[in-house]
Amino acid sequence: MPHAAYVFDAYGTLFDVHAAVRRHAEKLGPDAQRLSSFWREKQLEYSWVRALMGQYKDFWVLTQEALDTAFALVPSADRSMRDDLLNAYWTLDCYAEVPEVLTSLKASGAKLAILSNGSPAMLEAAVNAAGLADLLDDVFSVDPLQTFKTDPKVYEMATLAYRVYPDAVSFQSSNRWDIAGATAFGFRTVWMNRTGMPDEYADFSPAAVLNDLTGLPALG
Ligand code: LAC
Repeated sequence: MPHAAYVFDAYGTLFDVHAAVRRHAEKLGPDAQRLSSFWREKQLEYSWVRALMGQYKDFWVLTQEALDTAFALVPSADRSMRDDLLNAYWTLDCYAEVPEVLTSLKASGAKLAILSNGSPAMLEAAVNAAGLADLLDDVFSVDPLQTFKTDPKVYEMATLAYRVYPDAVSFQSSNRWDIAGATAFGFRTVWMNRTGMPDEYADFSPAAVLNDLTGLPALG
């Protein structure tokens, strides 16, 4: 049986977070990939630390602060690219299989939503740029809650909105830590292990592991 709702993490799962640096890789030089990794790592670290401190700042602010730290950690990368990289973040590419998979799940009658740390404005821009707006029923941002994943209140946004128990929701993320949080909350979880990462959080395992979203409709 298909699930009542399919809820997706945004960054890294539907949208390729490394696309911003890749678009400008030539100008950024040989350390471009390292810059992109630090940018993403710091963005996530800031979200976790601020959630624990109870000191929320929206994800767009954290994304800018993280890029500044990444530039400081990778001095060879040209800082004059800062604005170009930030602008690219608003129109990240979605992964190639995303439109087709969402179309197929929608045909099953399930609700489709994003549940993300992203600010509402960032998410709206990314969804529109990738042409996914018509396929999604909802885009849930953490912003009204003023905290970040893996706070259970974030995952609860979906069950409250759809008036279902957690196990009626299939949650997809490429971030293993996000899968741990969603599993702890009670969602059926599917880890998109896009980059061949080792498994973690053994006490909060996903129901299934896929390389990308292609096999999701067959899982039900
Ligand atoms: C998100 C980030 C964490 O979209 O990937 O929530």
